[in-house]
Amino acid sequence: MRVGLAGLGNVGAGTLRLVGAHADLLEKRAGQPIEIVAVSARSRSKARDCDLDGIDWVEDPRLLAIRQDIDVVVEVIGGVKGIALELAQAALGAGKHLVTANKAMIAAHGIELAKKAEKAGVQLVFEAAVCGGVPILKTLREGLAANQISSLRGILNGTCNYILNQMGDKGMDFATALDEAQRKGYAEADPTDDIGGFDTANKLAILSALAFGIEPDLSAIFIEGIRDITQGDLRDASARGGRIKLLGIANFFDGKIIQRVQPIFVPLTESLAQVGGASNAIELHGDFAGEIFLSGVGAGGDATASSVVSDLIDIARGNRSPAFGTRSML
Ligand code: HSE
Repeated sequence: MRVGLAGLGNVGAGTLRLVGAHADLLEKRAGQPIEIVAVSARSRSKARDCDLDGIDWVEDPRLLAIRQDIDVVVEVIGGVKGIALELAQAALGAGKHLVTANKAMIAAHGIELAKKAEKAGVQLVFEAAVCGGVPILKTLREGLAANQISSLRGILNGTCNYILNQMGDKGMDFATALDEAQRKGYAEADPTDDIGGFDTANKLAILSALAFGIEPDLSAIFIEGIRDITQGDLRDASARGGRIKLLGIANFFDGKIIQRVQPIFVPLTESLAQVGGASNAIELHGDFAGEIFLSGVGAGGDATASSVVSDLIDIARGNRSPAFGTRSML
């Protein structure tokens, strides 16, 4: 299976490293070799921790969508619209499968893109868009497909979790903790999206779509970020036997779905309080499966690449699922 990769930031470089390191394993699991044949990124000369030898360099990522020698386009450029959306539309329009890590684009344009994918008979998959390496979308789309989900809540942003932990446990100030999160490659290009709660809201909108069969709708989510959380707040929380976590929460109640993003006091007795560093975690309730708790690395190149490549394996195997778990919205 021949792949065109658009974007060589942390996730793109991680994807190249993973495909290179696990070529044999991937071939066995996918049933065919997975090869990255062309890449595109803003700067060709930038130093990167990946090997571009033998891979075509394409100046305009949109050209990946029309190349005859590409079956799947991977979009890890980011951004709610612009070149990422143009590439996604062009790839699906040209009958190529699309793998993306772009939560902002999927939250805002996911249904429109899913309709295009459906029409073209190709896959639109975005495991890497939510919670980095934690396979939460597959869990909802496949593992829990038989359940009515009544609630989900989670730590969906690694940067905020990292900042809150560094401030609370190490007494670091907000700006230093944010700076560290940026240097470690967790934060968005514009970290306002992280600390303002918008990144969490994008992910919550996608999770709600898969969990409840609704269209992603950011306007339906109350959003409060972590800007106003002080070290004093974190000390108070600790004295009361808990931690403050930025949570994305969605509840199905009385025929309605209530969604919010908020810093919340979580008692230490709850698993979510124990989630450290840039980790993410989600707890959900399925009516037959009961409580499910998933946690893992929520940001950074390697973990997110793990999800990108698992989507590539799914496509290579011929697995075909509706992007949001149901065709009823398409
Ligand atoms: N900025 C995001 C985070 C990256 O910190 O969680 C992963 O989506």
